[in-house]
Amino acid sequence: MHKSTGSYLLEFHYNGETMKQYQDIIDNTKGFMAFEEGQGLFEYAQKAAQLGPGLEIGSYCGKSTLYLGVGFQKHNQVLFTIDHHRGSEEQQPGEAYFDPDLFDKTIGKIDTLRFLRSALEKGTLEDTVIPIVSRSKTVAKSWQTPLSLVFIDGSHTFESATQDYECWTPHIIDGGYLLIHDIFPDPSQGGQAPYHIYKKALESGSFQEIRMIHTLGILQREKNKHV
Ligand SMILES: C[S@@+](CC[C@H](N)C(=O)[O-])C[C@H]1O[C@@H](n2cnc3c(N)ncnc32)[C@H](O)[C@@H]1O
Repeated sequence: MHKSTGSYLLEFHYNGETMKQYQDIIDNTKGFMAFEEGQGLFEYAQKAAQLGPGLEIGSYCGKSTLYLGVGFQKHNQVLFTIDHHRGSEEQQPGEAYFDPDLFDKTIGKIDTLRFLRSALEKGTLEDTVIPIVSRSKTVAKSWQTPLSLVFIDGSHTFESATQDYECWTPHIIDGGYLLIHDIFPDPSQGGQAPYHIYKKALESGSFQEIRMIHTLGILQREKNKHV
């Protein structure tokens, strides 16, 4: 995982379109998504939105959600985004990615939900993005909606990442996309759980590799090859 740094000097371009109106909102939203990775989310959200609704695991404060949400909004499609909003293991007090701004002293816990809501309001995405405040595994128990895109960026423990992979990839339709963040083939660069599920997807024979943008892996489900 790496923190995104500084203000983006580039305009948010895709296929000649300028998305200046979102740039400030995205810049001012806390998160862990590099600009080029965000552009990738936007690009594949637009493709996926033509096939059906999408789903994100790990909304955090809404940075990745904004990139994805704008893509889904363009095609009048919805994006579900799941997070229990209590932060991952490495975001707890005393850990490397703890942010005191997100700590609610009254309850002694992280609370990122209000930041997500604010990002969605500023981005006029409230009719596009459907936040689900829960553990990913709990939501998956009764999920039945086919998905055009699943973006996995929740807990980075082996157990949780594998659970997210197993719970959610069966819902991806033929031709739909599986996006995984924080892929580090070199263990000295970062945790191995996202890379583990990325390899698992490839080894399943159901997904083909489309692109890697920094640490964002983009895969597509091959036709007639469900896990
Ligand atoms: C790395 S952050 C997501 C960053 C975000 N995608 C971005 O780019 O700004 C991981 C998020 O996953 C959430 N999370 C961790 N385990 C989860 C679980 N089992 N179910 C739902 N959300 C979870 C945490 O609360 C945290 O907000």
